[in-house]
Amino acid sequence: MPFLRHVAFALLGLSLAPSALSFSPGFPYGSQKVRGVNLGGWLVLEPWITPSLFDNTGNSAIVDEWTFGQHQNRVVAEATLQTHWNTWITESDFANIAAAGLNHVRLPIGYWAFEVGPGEPYIQGQLPYLQKAVTWAGNHGLKLIIDLHGAPGSQNGFDNSGQRMSFPHWQSNQTNIDRTNAVMKTIATMFTSNPNVIPIIAPLNEPAGFDGAAVLNATRDYWGSSYQSIRYPHGQSQSPSNIVELIHDAFQPPSYWKGFEVAPNFQGVAMDTHIYQVFSDSEVAMSYQQHIKTACQTQSTLSSYDLWIIVGEWASAPTDCAKYLNGRGVGARYDGSYSGSTKVGSCSGMTGSASSFSSSYKTFLGQFWEAQVISYEKSGDGWIQWTWKAENADDWSYEAGLANGWIPKDPTKLQYPNICN
Ligand SMILES: *[C@@H]1O[C@H](CO)[C@@H](O)[C@H](O)[C@H]1NC(C)=O
Ligand SMILES: *[C@@H]1O[C@H](CO)[C@@H](O)[C@H](O)[C@H]1NC(C)=O
Repeated sequence: MPFLRHVAFALLGLSLAPSALSFSPGFPYGSQKVRGVNLGGWLVLEPWITPSLFDNTGNSAIVDEWTFGQHQNRVVAEATLQTHWNTWITESDFANIAAAGLNHVRLPIGYWAFEVGPGEPYIQGQLPYLQKAVTWAGNHGLKLIIDLHGAPGSQNGFDNSGQRMSFPHWQSNQTNIDRTNAVMKTIATMFTSNPNVIPIIAPLNEPAGFDGAAVLNATRDYWGSSYQSIRYPHGQSQSPSNIVELIHDAFQPPSYWKGFEVAPNFQGVAMDTHIYQVFSDSEVAMSYQQHIKTACQTQSTLSSYDLWIIVGEWASAPTDCAKYLNGRGVGARYDGSYSGSTKVGSCSGMTGSASSFSSSYKTFLGQFWEAQVISYEKSGDGWIQWTWKAENADDWSYEAGLANGWIPKDPTKLQYPNICN
């Protein structure tokens, strides 16, 4: 049939590639909205999501997953990780996520789950949990985005890439790039045969485009090679997979990506952008009304992308108060404890347990949440909140928002549908 259609189109003089005719992803991106949560802090550790795992080491040099494996007894570290993997996310989380009316989960995983190089202190054992997550997503009708969150050398220097450092090394060493490509090939061959559960793969989280042309050049090349791995996991001579490549914008505006990986030469590419209002002095100083207005104003940016645009990370937290959010041992801009920042206010009652939140703060969290959901659905193709749960930062937690009423039980039934008008 594809051959006949191809001939028919050729006779009509149309230039559509055969893959354009047959591409049908396991989720109707573009016509149905992505609504989801990230499963942060599970298979990639983040100090702010589970501060206890770091505090319990009694060693302040342990600031990320690399140092977690490096600076403590290995048997202890392995046992801690196994317990964490077994308990932090279970099938009941997937059931609760589905019951909350969501259709996607995005699951961060590091390269070290697939291979560890000589001298690298990472501890393995994540893959059985990744496989469980795929099963659980399938059991509950959720789509799973596999998100490579850490590459060799670190693509951004953030602790959530596995290795915190002041300037990333991923782009500066061809070995790192080659290893990342090999991991993406492994992921593609493992998972592209299950397009109804895994309709989309994110080949690399947040490459630090703000660190200059070397990172951006490496990122563009890597999007090209990961497209080949994801769409042609069994080689160019085989028919393409129906898996979408979800590329990250590397913190660049839509104009930077104009015409990049667009049809007809590419099919099934979506863009991921992350929107936070907490990582600068001016943002944490904004009033609640300014936060909401800024959320509504994202609509004009979101409507100017060529590709499907998914806001793959965002939150309704208006401050950087969550403990270790800026890194273990690093303070917050909001209360002035971050080096060089100016105090806006006290962090007490802004993060931690929702039992400490005032009712006006909870009302704001709901309004800010809805302003973002409205904007990301109206001008984008959907959203994935960061994150499903956090040990002690309910301002970031979807689960806590549901339990405490600022996130609706059904994300299509809003309390403030006109908040952006
Ligand atoms: C490149 O990175 C690899 C690890 O991926 C490391 O073993 C190697 O020493 C690095 N080479 C240079 C020149 O930095
Ligand atoms: C990035 O790519 C551009 C265009 O190919 C090239 O001119 C430039 O030298 C590259 N920069 C770096 C730092 O690799």
